[in-house]
Amino acid sequence: MAATRGEFSSRFGFVMAAAGSAVGLGNIWGFPTQAASNGGAAFLLVYLALAFTLAYPVLMVELVIGRYAHANAVNALRRISPSAAIGRIGAGVGIAGVVVASLILSFYAIVAGWMIAFGLASVMALMGQHGAAAWLTSFSFSSNVLFMLLFMSLTIGIISAGVSNGIERWSARLMPVLIATLVALVVYVMTLDGAMDGLKVYLLPDFERALSPKLIVAALGAAFFSLSLGVGTMLIYGSYINDNENLPVVGGLVTLVDIMIAVTAGFLVLPAMYVALHNGVEIFTATGQLISEDTLIFTVLPELFATMGIAGIVVSITFFALMSIAALTSSISMLEVPVAYAIEEHNLPRKKAVLVIGGLIALASLTILLNFEALFGFVITFTTRYSQPLLGLALCIFTGWLWHRNTVLKELQKGAPDVAAGWFWKIWPWYIKFFCPVIILAIFAQSIWG
Ligand code: PHE
Repeated sequence: MAATRGEFSSRFGFVMAAAGSAVGLGNIWGFPTQAASNGGAAFLLVYLALAFTLAYPVLMVELVIGRYAHANAVNALRRISPSAAIGRIGAGVGIAGVVVASLILSFYAIVAGWMIAFGLASVMALMGQHGAAAWLTSFSFSSNVLFMLLFMSLTIGIISAGVSNGIERWSARLMPVLIATLVALVVYVMTLDGAMDGLKVYLLPDFERALSPKLIVAALGAAFFSLSLGVGTMLIYGSYINDNENLPVVGGLVTLVDIMIAVTAGFLVLPAMYVALHNGVEIFTATGQLISEDTLIFTVLPELFATMGIAGIVVSITFFALMSIAALTSSISMLEVPVAYAIEEHNLPRKKAVLVIGGLIALASLTILLNFEALFGFVITFTTRYSQPLLGLALCIFTGWLWHRNTVLKELQKGAPDVAAGWFWKIWPWYIKFFCPVIILAIFAQSIWG
């Protein structure tokens, strides 16, 4: 532990940084796409239920462990373990988180690269360079590699700068602009023909579908992915919060902001899909499946922007620029996971750790791009749908069963002296001890045997 640890300088800064980590492609690319391919409202309903009852409690687990240990997940889990043997298992869970966070970044950088390329394509269109614009939106191997590398370089650059200079400053400035743009786009899309069909799909649930095991697993993965859970990101951010903060409140704020943005993005993307459909764009196959989930928003949103004439080009630039930035405030929180581990456990200097690990992750991205059909979907499913909830489950067991209850309470009381008397302490310990592990296991059991 030779390195001096950074700290967030204000509550607003922390909430913005943690929300910056949470809000990203998961909200605007992942959630709406999943909702669109899983029955709209049914998915929304299950997602909301799981986000509040499972994801928020797990987020609190990570924040409490992080701030208590003031360390990365590997070290932190070792420290809250009652014996050396259990500590080794804890360290193993932490290391699994380091690996999964790195794998998430390896596909994330590809999608974020698409965001940058689409933003630049609109700049080119504005300048009359239609050939360049067409190449930028072609998803060709060369453009995919180029923009993945560009995105990874930006991530590496910011992470080299450390916590409050890098992470906090960026997040606090740009998040509010993203929210305003989203809301403006939602208002606009509602005025177009076809939007109401999308709205209906998004808001009128088919309850039979809501109970399908496949949908529930997908919604669980989406909620954990969107809140950056399981891999130690929030644990590390928690380790940078100072002791005066009321953790249940800041955790609640982050959850609310994250869920609100995902739900708002749904109000944009589902109506936009049906507007595109209305305008003759093919998005469904004859059997009603989405033609390409991965690139859905890159089909329907440009179609939406095109209805705005020349103004649409400016809106498109703004939207994709903001999305690239939202992706960046998430990717830096992913890269911080292996980097903090390398600095604190292996005494590597920050700059060197960032370069080596960032380079390895870029190589992993390249491997995915070289075997796109086989690997892209596989890595996403493996990391977000399975690994994140199962790692979250492990964190619940460590906190609920192995960590001393009084120590947990003392940690919470630091910034919230009355916590023992309030509703949070009445429900949460029970939740993470029994409810979360049982429900997560039940959801997986259902999806395997159901
Ligand atoms: N929550 C981020 C998003 O929604 C993704 C993420 C996952 C970030 C895991 C960090 C760790 O885009």
